[in-house]
This record gives sequence, C-alpha cells and structure tokens, in this order.
Amino acid sequence: MERANNQFCADAGGKYCPCHLAHSGDCIKCSLIRGEKTCECKWQGVCIYNELNHNKVVPVQERKEVLCKVIETREMETNIYLLKIKIPSYLSRDLCEPGAYVFMKEQSRESGYFNAPISVMDVDEENNILEVVVVPRGIKTKPLVSCEEVIIKAPYFNGIFGLKEIKSNLNNKCVVILDGLSQVNSLKVIKRLIRNDNEVQVFINEDGKRLEIIEEKIKDLGVNIQLFNLHDKEEILINYIRNNNISFVYSCGLIYFNKHILQLVDNIDENIKFAIPNNNLICCGEGICGACTIRLNNCRIKTCKAQMNGREFLSNLK
Ligand code: FES
Repeated sequence: MERANNQFCADAGGKYCPCHLAHSGDCIKCSLIRGEKTCECKWQGVCIYNELNHNKVVPVQERKEVLCKVIETREMETNIYLLKIKIPSYLSRDLCEPGAYVFMKEQSRESGYFNAPISVMDVDEENNILEVVVVPRGIKTKPLVSCEEVIIKAPYFNGIFGLKEIKSNLNNKCVVILDGLSQVNSLKVIKRLIRNDNEVQVFINEDGKRLEIIEEKIKDLGVNIQLFNLHDKEEILINYIRNNNISFVYSCGLIYFNKHILQLVDNIDENIKFAIPNNNLICCGEGICGACTIRLNNCRIKTCKAQMNGREFLSNLK
C-alpha cells in the first residue's frame, strides 16, 4: 500500500511545524522532505522544506503538558460529566478553533500512555476556562471525573474532516446536523460559521442522545433548532436543504449516520460542501504511533494529522 501524496496536514505552517515527521523525512505534506525529486505540495503557506533545511528549525517545537485546575465537575446525565478547567491564556484562542481537541490525563500519571483525546466543547476566552464532556469508560477516562487537577497537552487541530469547507463559508446558508455525543464538537463550528456571517440552522436527531447544555448554548447563539429522525421525519431535513439554497452541511454524528446524511445531501446537490467529525481512534496525535492510520484510495493516511473533506473521507472509506 502506498503513502498518499499531497496530504493536507492540520499542523502545516503552524507553531508545531516542522514536526518530528519532517525531521525523520516522513512529512505527510512535503514531497521534497520525503526525498522525492519534485515539489508536489501545492501549499501556499510557509514552505516546510525551507523551514527545515534552510532555517534549520531545531529542535522540534513540541506541545507542552500543563497541570490545570479543575474548577467544576458535574454529572449532567448518568455517566456523562461536564468538566470546567482553568487553562493558560495561550491555549484559549487555539482551542476555540473548529476541530480543536486536547489530550488529558490524571495529575498523578507521568506516562503518555494515559493520555485521552478529548474534544473541546467550549472555551470561555475571557476567563480561560475550557469546557469538555467526559464519559468515564476505561483506565484513561475514569479517573478524570474525580481529579482536582488534570494534565493537559494541547492544542491539537484535526478533530474535523473538512476544516477548509467550514472556514471558507462566507454569507452563506449552512446546516449543522447533530446526533449523539459527537455533538460536543459542534459549538465551535457553529460559532465560526456565525462569525463569518453565515446563516445557521441546526437539526438534532431526536432518536440519539441529546445534551441539554449543548442545546442551551446553541439557542444562546440565536440559532434555531429543529428535531428530526432518519425514520419518519427525514423529509423535514431534506426539504429544508432543498428549499433553502444550502451551501454547507456539517454532519456531526458517527460514521453510519454521517454516511446516511451524505447520501441524502448528494441526492439533492453534490456541490454542497460537507464536513464531519474525525471519529477515528487517536493515540499519540503526532503522526508517530500509527494507531489512526486508515486505508483510503489504496493509500495509507494518518488521520490524526491529515486533513481531508468529509465527502472524500466517507466516499472512499473501505
Ligand atoms: S494517533 Fe498516532 S499516528 Fe495518529
């Protein structure tokens, strides 16, 4: 199996680029760094090859672990917890980005084995408070809901496939569709769409888990919510997309749900931009361990780093 060329990397040109992969000749973005003869990156940002070989960017800038105080832990529903965590101000802005997530572990653990990737639900930028939802299921997450302090490693950005599709909407009409616990990463998407003067309509699958806190926050943003389901109320969603000149859909559920929504959207118009959450297994988040690697178009893709649009991901997934 080949490694795909020209992958878009969520870290490319940012604070944490060039990363360890570039230094080892395994950059997912730059063909020259990988030892190929021509530049195929089609990248208009900071040249990673130049940074690495001419500016000699060493050592690798790594994300730091910081000990943070948990200021509130609340069981919102059976075994679903809201954690509010005081974070350093330098993290607040980055964590407001759509797709941002953090690694968290209990304060007594030194080993990175215990890092759990957790989606950012919301950030109070003024007071530097991070809000996350934790479902304690195993050795990594169970201790988090009883900690007074947690260790956070952040920011990571590839929590969504379709970041370009989200950020490129301006003065458009957009639909956000929520299903189950994946919805925790929808708020930052909705906020970004509103910031870019888009009109946003939210649909919630009434058959899935609903979180009151998310619905309240969406209403506080002035966004209308409609309920639907995939059995006998699908037409509500179809008619809305068909009749409102929708340019972008964010389907925020698990893969089977997102595939269903994509099919429905493509039946209306294949040009509607489409994004989904990245629900793949993530272990290191740095493109090193390989736990997140999937096969797409007969190529190996590290999904913790590689950015793609939701349609491309779902259409080519084997
Ligand atoms: S999670 Fe380790 S390589 Fe992606």
